[in-house]
Amino acid sequence: MFPLWLPTLLAILPRVRGWVHPVTAAGTHFYDSETHAPFVIRGLDYQPGGSSGFDGTRDPLSDPTLCARDIVLFQELGINTVRIYSVNPALNHDKCMTMLALAGIYVLLDVNTPLPHQHLNRYEPWTTYTPAYLEHVFGVVQQFSNYNNTLGFFAGNEVVNDGRSAQFAPVYVKKLITDIKRYIAKNSKRAIPVGYSAADDLRYRVSLARYLECEADSDSSMDGVDFYGVNSYQWCGEQTLESAGYDELIAAYANYTRPVFLSEYGCNKVLPRQFQETGALYSSEMLQSFSGGLVYEFSHESNHYGLVNINADESVRLRPDFTQLKQRYSDSIESMDTGAIPEMRSQQANAQPPRCAPSYSGLGTSLDYPKNLAKTYIDRGVKATGGYCELSSHDLKNLYKIEDENGNPWTGPAEISLVATIPADIVGSHIKERVSKNDATTLSVPLALWLLWHLLRSIA
Ligand SMILES: *[C@@H]1O[C@H](CO)[C@@H](O)[C@H](O)[C@H]1NC(C)=O
Ligand SMILES: *[C@@H]1O[C@H](CO)[C@@H](O)[C@H](O)[C@H]1NC(C)=O
Repeated sequence: MFPLWLPTLLAILPRVRGWVHPVTAAGTHFYDSETHAPFVIRGLDYQPGGSSGFDGTRDPLSDPTLCARDIVLFQELGINTVRIYSVNPALNHDKCMTMLALAGIYVLLDVNTPLPHQHLNRYEPWTTYTPAYLEHVFGVVQQFSNYNNTLGFFAGNEVVNDGRSAQFAPVYVKKLITDIKRYIAKNSKRAIPVGYSAADDLRYRVSLARYLECEADSDSSMDGVDFYGVNSYQWCGEQTLESAGYDELIAAYANYTRPVFLSEYGCNKVLPRQFQETGALYSSEMLQSFSGGLVYEFSHESNHYGLVNINADESVRLRPDFTQLKQRYSDSIESMDTGAIPEMRSQQANAQPPRCAPSYSGLGTSLDYPKNLAKTYIDRGVKATGGYCELSSHDLKNLYKIEDENGNPWTGPAEISLVATIPADIVGSHIKERVSKNDATTLSVPLALWLLWHLLRSIA
């Protein structure tokens, strides 16, 4: 008889890379906060079921067995980052975040979801910038701020996406960025970067990036982004820097004072996708002002951008795009020369963002907004705790069927391979409190402020 006892990983781990180093934004690039080596994003967007499939009962980091299946495939692709669009901070994410950390994979997280009270209305943001909304946002931030492999938070994704939203949304997006940055400064152990993910609309490409970057006088209640993500689908099939318009993309962000990267890329007009743009993205020329990018997206959904098909029984079939991207990423790792990236030390000194201009082309930037709605949350913090946890060796195994692109059993690894460790004294030292939904003490003051602001607004 075998004993029904699984040794905990911590006891059996070989000595690998050491603990999980937080990544920090300094000046124009990201760096490993311990080694100071540049951190270039090589990743993908990950939201099985699609954004519209999110109902709050589960999210991409709430089911450890599905995480194990997908992390095995992430490692096969050689990525170091995933972006997740929607999570519920009331769910437990400890196991999935621990597995990702052990696999050497960082997470960029959007703080919004498609559910009511969990995102801004782009045309009437003042109706949705509410205490309930802030409680959701800070719940996400609070929970994920405890994980070293949280790379950053997106305050919004394509909130500005047409002429009307460009008039109303920018001020609220920037206010939210400010709120999150101040929440982190007060309540988190480290300065986790906060940014925005933009639709690459030429009408606002420069103006929105500049508006979200700038900082006003010292007494201002608005802060600039720590990084800027661009969703770009302009390189389709066989192209050159010039024919794809990447030369203009590079020029537009050449002077940006913060890290810039492609938060979504991978045109699907030519199939199967070749991902030729990865060659450009990791070239010395682009690395001067860009920090890599994220391919849209892992799972094949109704909009046809997937690298894999996920079936109803949770088995997976790889698509030709998967194999192609794997090759491109592996080539880029081999050829990448980070010599074009300035040293972290030199960046810290001259990381000053520009002063804000009086106006920005095509954008409404003078809208009034409630200035102190977030203050109580920032001062007191919200209740939501996450932390690395113990795993058994069983947790690291893929339990689902995976087929290659021809329908044959996939011959890749059966479990996550470990590239980092987590010190035993860190694990389990967190008090596992979850967001309490009806926390009257934290709600009452912001709610009163919000009502008052709306009352005044309707009188004026
Ligand atoms: C997280 O990073 C800090 C340094 O910033 C380090 O002291 C700590 O051990 C790390 N935690 C884990 C679990 O790797
Ligand atoms: C970037 O800075 C250079 C030198 O200061 C300047 O010539 C150029 O016009 C700037 N480009 C942008 C897009 O602001």
